Amino acid sequence: MALLDVRDLNVRFATQEGAVHAVNGVSFALEAGETLGIVGESGSGKSQLAFSILGLLAANGRASGSVAFEGREILNLPETQLNKIRADRIAMVFQDPMTALNPYMRISDQMAETLMQHKGLSKRDAVAQAVVMLDAVKIPDAKNRVRLFPHEFSGGMRQRVMIAMALLCKPDVLIADEPTTALDVTVQAQIMDLLGELRRELGMATVLITHDLGVVAGFCERAIVMYGGQVMEQSPIDPLFAQPTHPYTRGLLAALPRLDANSTMTPIRGNPPNMTGAPTGCPFCPRCDFVEDICAVKMPPLTTFGAGRARACHRPIEEVAA
Ligand SMILES: Nc1ncnc2c1ncn2[C@@H]1O[C@H](COP(=O)(O)OP(=O)(O)OP(=O)(O)O)[C@@H](O)[C@H]1O
Ligand code: SF4
Ligand SMILES: [Mg+2]
Repeated sequence: MALLDVRDLNVRFATQEGAVHAVNGVSFALEAGETLGIVGESGSGKSQLAFSILGLLAANGRASGSVAFEGREILNLPETQLNKIRADRIAMVFQDPMTALNPYMRISDQMAETLMQHKGLSKRDAVAQAVVMLDAVKIPDAKNRVRLFPHEFSGGMRQRVMIAMALLCKPDVLIADEPTTALDVTVQAQIMDLLGELRRELGMATVLITHDLGVVAGFCERAIVMYGGQVMEQSPIDPLFAQPTHPYTRGLLAALPRLDANSTMTPIRGNPPNMTGAPTGCPFCPRCDFVEDICAVKMPPLTTFGAGRARACHRPIEEVAA
């Protein structure tokens, strides 16, 4: 039994223009201690997928399908039951720490509250534990800085606080949603190194959500490539880079900055899809160099091949991977 088993997950938002189909039939399993990357351009449904698992969708959003955690269905559980799982068993690092941290509460109070609620610690012990965690994420002078408000930290330090907060209860699963996008490149690398270190120490399974295949390559054992709310390709990291079998994955790889001066970066042409209305056919159609007539009318099924790989594309592997 997988630690987290996501089956045929769908997320829809009701809007005046019609239903936004943000996540469409996504399935994956996460084993204990595993690192899984979820990659895709902006708007491909990555964050909504994560939010739906933890019951954090906006009021106009609805999730359907199944999310089993340790064999127990947790999708759409009542708030009181989800609160027992959030932070304690499955924790999340959010894309924007300022929206996730309470701006009016000292970090000590925010962190202590979580520990008091989930671990039954006294306020004094909880604050002491919070300082240990801030030390672990390398916040200098953690003992005093634990009393600061979120805005008193720099962007990089705030993201460290967010990570400390997520790891407080030593969760079994960490979902890190673009943990470094708002930061400059040097700080990004430091934060990813730190996350990697803590992950190995605590042994938790990690889902890393990012638009950057390069970040996934350095951090994850396996990746899911998403486009238009659907899974395009799923693979262990090495073969995904050595032999991408989906036109979209190929496009993402070609768009990666290279160190060698002779190769050029080629962005994927066109724009991400409009997600309003039920999807018909392959969402990558308007941007795909391999498109054929059938692509516009029929979504190809996700078909397994090789060792732990799967792809959703009408074109044969040999033609795309050549
Ligand atoms: N409350 C909402 N109402 C309507 N549509 C929404 C709502 N929240 C998100 N969406 C839409 O859902 C789609 C998927 O959004 P999501 O936030 O998951 O993208 P993402 O892959 O995380 O992108 P990014 O890399 O920019 O964070 C987008 O088209 C977005 O506009
Ligand atoms: S199904 Fe068709 S449009 Fe979609 S990626 Fe494959 S070839 Fe391109
Ligand atoms: Mg997002």
